[in-house]
Amino acid sequence: MAISLDVALEKACVQILNTSVLVRVVLSGRRKSMETEFERVDIRPVLIKDKIQLQLSHNDGRATTVKNIQPESDLILTFLNSGYSNILVEHTEGSMAIRITKSGEAHVGYEKKAFTQELSHDKKKNRLLDPTDPFLLEVGITDHKGNIKPSKQDKYLQVEEFLRLLAPTLKSAIEAGQIHAPSKEKPLSIVDLGCGHAYLTFAAHQYLRSIGIPVEVTGIDIRTASRDRNNEIAKKLGITSTINFRAEEIANTTKQSADVAIALHACDIATDDAIAWAVKADAKLLLIAPCCHHDIQSQMDVSPEPWAGVTKFGLMRERLGDLLTDTLRAQILRIVGYRVEIIEFIGGEHTPRNLMIRAVKTNAPPDSIDLTRYREICAQWGITPALESKLPAPFIS
Ligand SMILES: C[S@@+](CC[C@H](N)C(=O)[O-])C[C@H]1O[C@@H](n2cnc3c(N)ncnc32)[C@H](O)[C@@H]1O
Repeated sequence: MAISLDVALEKACVQILNTSVLVRVVLSGRRKSMETEFERVDIRPVLIKDKIQLQLSHNDGRATTVKNIQPESDLILTFLNSGYSNILVEHTEGSMAIRITKSGEAHVGYEKKAFTQELSHDKKKNRLLDPTDPFLLEVGITDHKGNIKPSKQDKYLQVEEFLRLLAPTLKSAIEAGQIHAPSKEKPLSIVDLGCGHAYLTFAAHQYLRSIGIPVEVTGIDIRTASRDRNNEIAKKLGITSTINFRAEEIANTTKQSADVAIALHACDIATDDAIAWAVKADAKLLLIAPCCHHDIQSQMDVSPEPWAGVTKFGLMRERLGDLLTDTLRAQILRIVGYRVEIIEFIGGEHTPRNLMIRAVKTNAPPDSIDLTRYREICAQWGITPALESKLPAPFIS
């Protein structure tokens, strides 16, 4: 039902102010010609010192920031009118969804459904993966009682946090037309490069399917034992029509294309192979969490001054090498037409390799400053990143 925007927002505001039954509010998407401060804002009622407040949380890709506000209509209306194109209000007996069109009309839908209110202040993070999903047992993350094995806790969290970024990034890219809307006939193709035991590969397959995204997933790893084990698990789970594994080197894989390329801790320059493959295969979205970095470090023979003041400390040299490596990878991706961010996908206590390069193909021409900076950094340090050598020459004209 299309109604005037003001009326729709007033209705949503009334529902939000009814905090005794409010469950949550989600603001997402962007209205035409408007900027939003965050990609998505989640709001829920919380009980603090016997008073209900509204807890706003948003994630900038690095961390989740939480703020509590009083449930006051002026504040809420300002938020509702701050540029988001989708507003979802859930209460204990149903939901109201507003979609604001390009022409500024509000399409409002209602659904009757029971939702549970949860007012505790320190709510535990919702897990994305169903703890009873048999894949967790088959890949060896959980034991027969369904408990996560202590030795797999960190890997499990890495996978969950990876998915937590994958899903909204994917959704935004689909909404922006950068990735086709996946359908049964044309599922989203995902390739996991350097998949190893395929914790992430299976998790992405199961999770995306659970939220209604048809997928076709391929895991690639140089080791034949990994391929055989993973294909066997896929067979056991009855999902071989939508997930498969190949024992191939990333650089020479027979896989030709994918919409999305993911890689979690592909060793050293296997990460460069993964990025190079994705660029050549014209993947629209890359989520790459690099592993150890030796390539640039081994080329940092002579540090340009005054950087010798940093590199004289072994540990600092190593860290600077890591920073240069991922910076130059990001810079190359910008140059070849991706919008790039470098973010922390998980806290450092779970893995020191906690950076992620997130890149969406926009085909935007690079700023000339990107090329200049890239060339100057390489020239000053006398280095040629492995990724540059893996892309068709000259990758920068
Ligand atoms: C550190 S493990 C990470 C595995 C998995 N992504 C995970 O997070 O559990 C790196 C994997 O990359 C694979 N690998 C390394 N170099 C490769 C290459 N050039 N081509 C294909 N796979 C490679 C290794 O065999 C190994 O399984």
